[in-house]
Amino acid sequence: MPAPPASSVVGLVCPACGVGYRESATNPRCRCGSLLDLEVPPPSLTGAELRSRFEARLTGRDIADVSGVWRYRELVVPQIPDSPISYPEGNTPLIASDAIARWTGTDRLALKHEGQNPTGSFKDRGMTVGMTQAVRLGARGVTCASTGNTAASLAAYAAHAGLPALVLVPAGRVTPEKLAQSAAYGAQTVALRGDFDRCLELVEQAADRFGLYLLNSVNPYRIAGQQTIIFELLHQRRWDPPDWIVFPAGNLGNTTAFGRALVASHRAGLISRIPRLAAVQAEGAAPFAHSYAAGFTPLEPVVADTVASAIRIGNPASFDRAVRAIRATNGLVTTVTDREILEAKAVVDRAGVGCEAASAAAVAGVRRLRRESVIGDGDSVVAVLTGHLLKEPLAAATARDSRAVEIDGRLDEIEAILDR
Ligand code: F0G
Repeated sequence: MPAPPASSVVGLVCPACGVGYRESATNPRCRCGSLLDLEVPPPSLTGAELRSRFEARLTGRDIADVSGVWRYRELVVPQIPDSPISYPEGNTPLIASDAIARWTGTDRLALKHEGQNPTGSFKDRGMTVGMTQAVRLGARGVTCASTGNTAASLAAYAAHAGLPALVLVPAGRVTPEKLAQSAAYGAQTVALRGDFDRCLELVEQAADRFGLYLLNSVNPYRIAGQQTIIFELLHQRRWDPPDWIVFPAGNLGNTTAFGRALVASHRAGLISRIPRLAAVQAEGAAPFAHSYAAGFTPLEPVVADTVASAIRIGNPASFDRAVRAIRATNGLVTTVTDREILEAKAVVDRAGVGCEAASAAAVAGVRRLRRESVIGDGDSVVAVLTGHLLKEPLAAATARDSRAVEIDGRLDEIEAILDR
C-alpha cells in the first residue's frame, strides 16, 4: 500500500508510488509517469444521512442541486465550488425496453441513457467538474484530443466558461455531427493526420508547452465527474445495486470512474454490495480485453479498427487504473464484433431509444454475456448508453427504410408506400 500523503498536499495522489500533490496541480501525471487520482475525504455523514441529503436535493432550486453531477458533490471533489460551470447536466433516464431486453435475452435490463446530456454524451459529467477546475485555476485556455464527443463537450463548456478551446481530432475519423458541434460552440479544431492515440500524445505535450489546461479523461477531475453516472443510477434504483453494469470501453476513463464510484458508494454505506462491471470493447480495438483474457498482462497497444468511431482507441491512457477498477468490482472485460454492434444499434434505434454505435457495444455485450451464461438468468443489468443517436445518424443507415422516400405530394403516393 502506498503511504498516505501529508495532509497539506492531500488531493491528488499517485496510485503507483504514493506521492501526493496539491489538488490545484495542473499536470495529470506523477513524476513517475502514472496518472494521478483525486482523493476525496470520506464523508462525515452516514450512508443514510447522505441518501436523505441527495434525495432532498432533487427538489432543490440551486444549480448545484439540480445538476445530476453536483448533487453528489460530497463524493466528487475535495473542495466544493461556489459556482460550478454547469448547464446543468446529468439527470439522465433509466429506460426499460422490452424489445431491447428480449434481444439480449435478459428480462431485467435498464438502459442508462447518457446521450441525454446537454451535448449528447456522458462527457458533460466530467466536463462540468473539469471546466470548473480550469476556471478556478485561472487557466488561459483548455484543450483535448478526441474521437468527437469530448471535443463537443469541451467546446460547449469552454464557451459557457468564456475560455478559448483547442481540440485535436484524428483527420477523417470523426463524424461530421460531432465536428459540427465543436465548431458551432466556437472551438478551434485541428485535424491530425494520425489516429486518436497520436492526438492524445501530442495534446499532452502541447498542453504542457503552451500552458493550456488538459481536459481529457487523464484529468482526475474528469474522472471525478463521470463517477456520478454510477451515483445517479444507484439513487434512481433507491440504492438497490444491480447485479451488472455493462458499458463500452475505449480510453478507459469510464471504467476507472465506475470502479472508483462503486467502491466509494460501498465505503460510504450507500450500498451494501458492489455490482460487477462488464467493460465491452469492439473486437478491432480491444487491447484491454486482450490483457484481461491473459490474466491482466501489461498493455500491448493495437492499431484500432472498428465502425464504432468513438471507441477506436488502441493505446488506452487509463489502462492501469481500469485494471484496478475491474479487480475491485470482480468485473470482466469482453469484446463484440462490428456486426454485433450494428445489429444492437438497429435494435436500440428501432425500439425508439436510439444511441450511437459505440453505445450499442454495451447492449451487444449484454447479449454475448447472457448467451455465455456469464450474466445469469434473472440477473439485473444496467447497460450504459454513452451517446445520442444524432451523433452518428449515418450509422443508422444500416437499417432498412432509413432513406426518406421523395414524393410530389399526392395521397396515392403515401398509400403506395403504406401498401409496401
Ligand atoms: N462511448 C462514447 C460515445 C464515447 O465517446 C467514448 C469515448 C466511449 C464510449 C469510451 O469511453 O474512453 O471512457 O472508455 N470517447 C472519447 C472522446 C475518447 O474523445 O470523445 P472511455
